[in-house]
Amino acid sequence: MHVGIIMDGNGRWAAKRGLPRLMGHKRGAGRVKDIVKTSIELGVTTLTLYAFSTENWKRAAHEVEGLMKLFRGYLQNNFVELNEKNIKVKFLGDPTPLAADLREQMENLEDLTKDNTLMTLNIAINYGGRDDLVRATRKIAAKVRDGSLAIDDICEQTISDHLDTVKQPDPDLIIRTAGELRLSNFMIWQGAYSELAFVKTSWPEFTPEVYTEVIAEYRSRTRQFGAVIPKGAKVVK
Ligand code: IPE
Ligand code: IPE
Ligand code: MG
Repeated sequence: MHVGIIMDGNGRWAAKRGLPRLMGHKRGAGRVKDIVKTSIELGVTTLTLYAFSTENWKRAAHEVEGLMKLFRGYLQNNFVELNEKNIKVKFLGDPTPLAADLREQMENLEDLTKDNTLMTLNIAINYGGRDDLVRATRKIAAKVRDGSLAIDDICEQTISDHLDTVKQPDPDLIIRTAGELRLSNFMIWQGAYSELAFVKTSWPEFTPEVYTEVIAEYRSRTRQFGAVIPKGAKVVK
């Protein structure tokens, strides 16, 4: 089971308490460890955390810098433990505009954990669903140009195989915290048939208990994928 989480509401959580937005991000970063642990307990095999979108560069420079510092801190503090826990870490998004030291740390962690098998943790940084598709299109076009791929052989699987989530299952469930009813450019291709859960709880308050309830509610749903599933049919989840 693949769960994607749009971790939203850090800023509002802080504002409500008269705190600077960055305090909300700090609190939010502190939620990650718990949610990773709970994911394993709940049988989630791929967890994707949307941490920074291609649009988030529009924010004030000090907020962007603060977020980058938090990513750095998270990687430093969890580098060894993620590997010890047998978690495979993968970064989604275009790393090019990120600081060189951060990119190096990201590459090292991906490399260190590449053979781990308990769960895949995708961290989406400078990720946008449209950008994912643009980069995939470029890779596909290059193959057509060099003759290794025929235009008529391009199918849905070809697109999936060139996205950042290559070889991964599509998200079964996309959760967005903090009440907004939109995807904000998250996995627009992969999420074509994802179940959606919009919860009011902000990310800093998203506890394992709230998460467990959301997963239980998801497991009570019937997914049809366009077909008609007879009542009482056994559905694998
Ligand atoms: C999500 O919280 C974190 C990021 C987008 C990096 P927000 O910062 O968007 O919080 P709100 O939506 O302003 O409350
Ligand atoms: C989406 O949240 C991006 C992340 C959670 C990383 P935003 O807060 O940036 O999205 P909008 O601006 O409300 O759509
Ligand atoms: Mg937001």
